[in-house]
Amino acid sequence: MAALEAFDFILFGGSGDLAMRKLLPALYYRHRDSSAHAAWRIVGTGRQPLSREEYLALALENCRLYVPVKDFSDSAWAAFAQRLDYLRLDANQEQDYQGLVEKLKDAGSRVRVFYLATAPSLFAGICASLGRAGLVTPDSRVVLEKPLGRDLASARRINEDVGAVFAEHQIFRIDHYLGKETVQNLIALRFGNVLFEPLWNRSWVHDVQITIAETVGVEGRGEFYDSTGALRDMVQNHLLQLLCIVAMEPPASIDADTMRDEKLKVLRALKPITGEDVAARTVRGQYRAGAIGHKPVPGYLEEEGIPAGSRTETFVAIKAELGNWRWAGVPFYLRTGKRMQDRLAEIVINFRGVPHPMLRASSGESASNRLVISLQPDEGLRLDLMAKVPGEGMHLQPIQLDVALSETYRTRQWDAYERLIMDVIHGKLTLFMRRDELDAAWLWLEPILNAWERGGQPLKSYPAGTWGPTASSALIARDGHAWREES
Ligand code: BG6
Repeated sequence: MAALEAFDFILFGGSGDLAMRKLLPALYYRHRDSSAHAAWRIVGTGRQPLSREEYLALALENCRLYVPVKDFSDSAWAAFAQRLDYLRLDANQEQDYQGLVEKLKDAGSRVRVFYLATAPSLFAGICASLGRAGLVTPDSRVVLEKPLGRDLASARRINEDVGAVFAEHQIFRIDHYLGKETVQNLIALRFGNVLFEPLWNRSWVHDVQITIAETVGVEGRGEFYDSTGALRDMVQNHLLQLLCIVAMEPPASIDADTMRDEKLKVLRALKPITGEDVAARTVRGQYRAGAIGHKPVPGYLEEEGIPAGSRTETFVAIKAELGNWRWAGVPFYLRTGKRMQDRLAEIVINFRGVPHPMLRASSGESASNRLVISLQPDEGLRLDLMAKVPGEGMHLQPIQLDVALSETYRTRQWDAYERLIMDVIHGKLTLFMRRDELDAAWLWLEPILNAWERGGQPLKSYPAGTWGPTASSALIARDGHAWREES
């Protein structure tokens, strides 16, 4: 495995949920699996007055929770812990940054990553203070966690403020969905094969469905979630980024700006959903009490930190369309929700039926070809085809070409954060959002957000443990289609 160059990783929100659940485990794996150990170190920062030992104990306790037992080794941990340090730092207190200056001095010209796993309201202040403390070197990079703003204006403000300290090539706006193995595989599938590209357009694609369904609720993040909602939490970033990868034109190369130029064209081609269209093309839902499997779970309004009578959506379905030659008239159905029946993230490409159905299917109706790209729970690809029923006569039945990536590649799959953190360290921006992409995504979402806020779309209730409100099935059924699990 590759050696890592020296770097300093400064983690704001160092004792927070993301740091403990994802970032430190990702760095632990990179430490464990790197062949040569350069001098890299991690400084967690936060307002909590923790000693280094207390921070290490907290990190260890969490890594034991989030790293599977078979991957955890005491000796690897002991060496990893040598890299870990903690600094009590209140992001709003200018003088606290002197502690960081002290810690980082004598590091030479190594790469410096400032990872902001904090509330976005702190981004501007942290960057300004880093700048004033002279901590931003030419080899520094800043990583911004989503959500970046609440709307176009606030996102632009954050970008302006961060941009006053860091150049655009130093800013890594993270969307961890772009780091998932299957999303990269979608790029490989589309641009590493000749098979799909001729079919990848309105002539042969009937509709596209992108689903990110979760069984979890708000998981102790009630306050954050209630002021955010599913549209900002999942659609503005993850779902739109997946849509971009499905719909983009073949880029000339995978260098960052070439790829991002193509994604931007997709975002700009999204047909605005305004006025009466908002009611016709969007569904917003909120879960009530129900059961996941057989386990009863409370409704959203009963979750901790949710204000009485909250109207925040935990489910969204949207019928999107792209106004360009390749995709005109092809619906892109997007759907995401909490407390749904199964944990499932997938992209479904439904192809058109055969133009002249001269062969009969055994069930009477011939199924169309379908490509399913699964991101979760298992990563894989499945192609539905029609084949002959064995024996006499010429009747067809559906068969599947199924590739489970975990069986094809028996090595451990990297977590999205592992890959993305390594890209940050190596300065690779391809899988990070550029500022204009973010603007374009907000521009498209704003009319929907505004109409919802004006009460232009009733909030539909759905029982936890289902596939969302019935209005979601109706949205797609109006076009004569069905979500994959319903068809
Ligand atoms: C995050 C959202 O970006 O993605 C969470 O803020 C959501 O609400 C999570 O649960 C889902 O990520 P994954 O990788 O578990 O599907």
